Amino acid sequence: MSGEAKAKTILTGVKPTGAPHIGNYVGAIRPALRLAGEYAQSYLFIADYHALNAVRDAEALRHDSYEVAACWLALGLDPSKTVFYRQSDIPEIFELTTILAAVTPKGLMDRSHAYKASVDKNREEGRDDDADINMGLYTYPLLMAADILIAQADIVPVGKDQVQHIEFARDMAGYFNNTFKQVLKLPEYKLEAGPHGAILPGIDGRKMSKSYNNHIPLFMESKARRKLVMKIVTDSKTPDEPKNADESVIFQLYTHVADPAEVAGMREAFEKGGMGYGDAKQKLYDALEKTFEQPTQIYNDLMANPARIDEMLEAGAQQARKIARETLSMTREAVGLKKLA
Ligand code: ADP
Ligand code: TRP
Repeated sequence: MSGEAKAKTILTGVKPTGAPHIGNYVGAIRPALRLAGEYAQSYLFIADYHALNAVRDAEALRHDSYEVAACWLALGLDPSKTVFYRQSDIPEIFELTTILAAVTPKGLMDRSHAYKASVDKNREEGRDDDADINMGLYTYPLLMAADILIAQADIVPVGKDQVQHIEFARDMAGYFNNTFKQVLKLPEYKLEAGPHGAILPGIDGRKMSKSYNNHIPLFMESKARRKLVMKIVTDSKTPDEPKNADESVIFQLYTHVADPAEVAGMREAFEKGGMGYGDAKQKLYDALEKTFEQPTQIYNDLMANPARIDEMLEAGAQQARKIARETLSMTREAVGLKKLA
């Protein structure tokens, strides 16, 4: 860990969007947990107000928020090291959003990829440009900038699709600082997966994704997990035939959940011949069980006791609100509003 990394603050928001799968774990959750451990200060929050732009079912939003919290806790998020909270518990974020709105040109929102993609879709479908686009979606980058700036974050790990949002947050901080006073810290993004970042295949060989319904959920009963693993597509090579390990979905998944010696063993057995796909699937299943059995238990325990989750998130919110109030007070003062007491 470099001294520089140590001194910095890292922040990430996760939208509550349903049960995560192994691809999410390997591509997003595990790297974020690793990174959190490398920085002096780390913040991770559930972006429930962001989800509200799309969710219209109160029970679903409630459930999904608990689910995402339980998931991160089960996978090793340590709330004594990472400040873990609900966005909706930090009212200062929403006040900062209003202040930022006053210095943000409308044109910036018009250029947002997410908004433009929705407009393009409407055009393709021959509908009015702004059909079904609510103001929450339109001003999504404003709220996201407030999430980041309120915590004075240095680094925001994101996927490629989110890079523009961090650039916008920098722009907004710049507008504010130039208009009033140097108060807001300009954040930097850090791409979650480098150019060699792994994309995990799903059971049908395409990219694992909820939208293809080819995913292996992280938390499930052993029997159901085994059934899914047994459904993974393979070619029709017999056990004795040598196989190209890197072309096998089973092997690719195995590399992420087995230890290096086991991975080397499967590669060798594939390449030499003698390892059938059935055996390989059993090994993959065993490795998945070993990796996710305990997290599944923690996850189930937490989901059975949402009051415990609330307690942890509320404690996190209290901590996050300290810096949030500090930042908000400075910005209020800078624009000519009353400082917070
Ligand atoms: P999905 O495609 O299942 O809806 P999301 O788009 O919600 O998944 O992805 C959430 C996070 O998980 C993103 O950071 C993304 O990069 C990561 N992720 C999703 N699918 C994969 C995959 N198959 N391999 C690696 N990372 C993935
Ligand atoms: N927009 C992010 C996503 O869709 C979630 C998010 C909201 C976020 N606020 C954030 C991510 C602040 C990083 C920092 O995944």
